[in-house]
Order: sequence, then C-alpha cells, then structure tokens
Amino acid sequence: MGTEGMAEDDLAIEHVFGNFHDYYTFNPEAERIRFLSPSLRSSLYHAFHKQKRVYYMDIGCNEGKLTKAVHKALKNPQTLAAPTTETTFSVDNICLLNEKLQKHHQNPEYVTIEDGGTGHRKHFIIHVFIANVFFGVGDGVSKKIAKAKAAGQALERLNSIEAAEIPTSATEIPVTEELAKTTTEEPMELYTIGIDVDPVLIDRAQSLVKNDTTLHFEVADVMLGGQLDEICKNHLENSECFDLISCFSITMWIHLNHGDAGLIAFLNLAASKTKHLLIEPQPWKCYKTAIRRLERLNHKIPASFRQIQIKQNVVQVIESHLNDLFPYKTSLGKTNWSRLVLLYSKEPLNSPPKAK
Ligand SMILES: C[S@@+](CC[C@H](N)C(=O)[O-])C[C@H]1O[C@@H](n2cnc3c(N)ncnc32)[C@H](O)[C@@H]1O
Repeated sequence: MGTEGMAEDDLAIEHVFGNFHDYYTFNPEAERIRFLSPSLRSSLYHAFHKQKRVYYMDIGCNEGKLTKAVHKALKNPQTLAAPTTETTFSVDNICLLNEKLQKHHQNPEYVTIEDGGTGHRKHFIIHVFIANVFFGVGDGVSKKIAKAKAAGQALERLNSIEAAEIPTSATEIPVTEELAKTTTEEPMELYTIGIDVDPVLIDRAQSLVKNDTTLHFEVADVMLGGQLDEICKNHLENSECFDLISCFSITMWIHLNHGDAGLIAFLNLAASKTKHLLIEPQPWKCYKTAIRRLERLNHKIPASFRQIQIKQNVVQVIESHLNDLFPYKTSLGKTNWSRLVLLYSKEPLNSPPKAK
C-alpha cells in the first residue's frame, strides 16, 4: 500500500473526505477491535443467534480491514478477535515494556533512525535497545506510533525468550466465564456489508474477501438520497433493518462536508436502519487538525468546513442526539487517540451492557 503515483491533488482530497489510502498503517484495526470484548460479543451473540441471519453494515469502511475483523469477531464469539494485519500496535506497549524491564533494573533505549519522512507524508523509524542489544524496530506517521511498534516487538522478543526458559502453557489465552458459555455454540450466520465513497478503497476491500459470500463491499455515498435505502432493499432478506451498524471515524467527515444539518441527518438515517449502532465520533480537536492539514497543503478549505456551528461540544451533541433515538447506551471505552467508542441499542443486551 502506498501513495506512489498519486497526484498531489489526490492526496489533498483524502484530507477533505477522509478516504485515506494508508489509513490502517496509522490507525490499525486491532486498536478498535479490542472494544468488542469477549463479554460484549457474547451478549451480541445471545441477542442475535436465534435469527436465521444476522445483518451488519459498516459505513465508511475504507479498505475493509476493520469491517473484516469485526465480522470475524462477531461470527465466532469464542475466538478472540485476532488482528488481521501485521501493523498492530498499542501505546500501552511502551508502559508494559518499562514495567517489565524495571523488574530487571533496566531501561529501554529508543533511537530515532528516520525523523519526519518527506513531503507531507510523515514517516518515523525508531529502534529500541535493551542493555545495548537491538530488540525491535517500529515505523509510523508519528514518533509515538513508531515507538509503540518498536516496544511491541521488544515485548514479543522478551516474552519468547522467557517462554523458552520456562516451559509453561503460557500461550494459552484464558477463557472468560461469559466466553466459556458460548464456546459450544454454532457460529452465527452473519451477513456483512461495508460501504465507502471511494471506489479504489472498495476495490481493495473486495480483494480481501474474494471467496467469502458472507462479506460484501460496495461503493456508496451514505449522504446521497436513497443510496442506503437501495442497499437495504438489495441486501436485507426478510428483515426491515440491520442488526448492527458501525460508524468508525466517519462523523467528522460527514459533518465537515455536509454541515450541522448533514451530521444530524446522518445520525437519524443510520439510527433508522439498525437495532444497534456502534459509533466512534471524532472530537473537535480532530476537526482542527483536519483543517490545519489542508492549510499546510495549500488546499482550498471547502466552504462547508467553515460553516459548521457545532464545534467544541460535537461529541456531546452526537451523544445527546443518539440518546433520544436509542433507549440504551454502553460506553465501550476510549481509543489510543482518546476517541469514545459507544454502543447504542434499541433493545437491551443481556449482559454486560447496562441500561442508561
Ligand atoms: C477516516 S476513514 C475511517 C475508516 C474506517 N471506518 C475505520 O475507522 O477504520 C473515513 C471513511 O469514511 C468514508 N466516507 C466519507 N464520507 C462518506 C460518505 N458520505 N459515504 C460513505 N463513506 C464515506 C471515507 O472514504 C473513509 O474511507
């Protein structure tokens, strides 16, 4: 994946619609999939599994990596959601590595090999050394990402050294009580569709799922009148609406391009088509970064970006609007980028999501 061959204008366009062509190198799906905890998946499984077929739609699916990971995690609640790429990292790795080394009175030493990349595509490479021995490398669009990836490699290496020294069954992942209850259940018949405005991204997404007839990707603009209705008509059999819709990191792009009214219309539309809505709205600071990026690229700031009135309190506005549309809400946590992940439901889930 990369941006070679792309014109400057194409790159700028990514900063207008959010259709980044290297999104998962700086926002890996593993970081968000962790919010589908075993107990949440178990609750969703029990809510859905009696249905003949369960329908999930991901709006703004980009190149489909997160959609595919969610599909896999929902379909088989007993399997832990394994990341689907090698680009996984968590900033927690930095602390975990410090903690592990403190026990041995050591500190990791991070050395920056590449600092900043070229043009407006930032790129950093960091190596980590322990007692002057190379233990890992990480790269990414920020130093923090590169450091987190390097720390992750070092942790893996330390763990494998420890495992070789102490033969145990340490690789076994403990099964939680809720999860244990579902391990004898059949996988659900899950039918997933991911939609995105960008045909290049959808092309890539389709190539991820060549032989899987339960996972589909389509080009669609959710804001174009009737496109979502058309998708429902074409894909939902014997069902009025989706069981689950996810909107990961898309609200800001809808808001910037379609204004305050467009944002509210989008929430109404998504809510009208689903029983449960999983949403990760971008806070105001992301809007400021998006506008600054366009200014840095000397790209014209679209008029709609300047016209929005819902600003600092955008997440609260989204939350309070969705509170009116769904009787139940569960906060699933915050991403490494401090974005809330929320689940809104029209029907209660048995456990553990709690009614508001
Ligand atoms: C920042 S990316 C998030 C990708 C993915 N949801 C994730 O979080 O991993 C936002 C995606 O929304 C898509 N998008 C923006 N406006 C859209 C619209 N009106 N209809 C459908 N997709 C849209 C963009 O093309 C882009 O791929």
